[in-house]
Amino acid sequence: MKRAGLGILAIVSLGLVAATPSVKDEMKSVVEPASNILFSVGGEVDPANGPDAAKVIDARWAAAASAASQLRTVAAVLQTPEQAKPGDVWATTAKQFGDLAAQAEAAAKAKDGAKLADAANALGDNCTACHAKYKPQTAS
Ligand code: HEC
Repeated sequence: MKRAGLGILAIVSLGLVAATPSVKDEMKSVVEPASNILFSVGGEVDPANGPDAAKVIDARWAAAASAASQLRTVAAVLQTPEQAKPGDVWATTAKQFGDLAAQAEAAAKAKDGAKLADAANALGDNCTACHAKYKPQTAS
């Protein structure tokens, strides 16, 4: 009886997490770490940073592809009616977030340093564009 109860609780809470993570939780637990990986690999592979960019090991490209894929998933959730916020900027920036994540993922899989660096830079601007309008401007 006790075990069954715990099992149900676990299923219910998993279901809730899967169905309605808050934007804040997604940003903190997925977007921030994944975009940090993407920004750092983007710098490592940028041909503008010299010839070493071509020597990046497979694991870094794979990490970038996986991070970009996570961002793409979040971007899709941000575009659902549950999370969309009023105003055109949300729809535009959330869609662009997904498009840029897809570009970054494709570039990482193709090991195209210039394209990955471009997508990572554009993603940085994209975060700022959405935050400027929708993120509460607090001290942090
Ligand atoms: C479509 C809009 C949108 C995009 C795109 C977006 N964010 Fe956010 N982000 C938000 C909103 C809204 C909040 C505020 C959530 C809250 O406090 O309720 C937020 C909050 C955050 C936070 C603070 C979380 C906390 O602990 O309070 C971080 C970090 C963050 N975003 C990182 C990023 C990064 C990095 C990117 C780009 C790679 C990005 N976000 C792109 C909408 C967006």
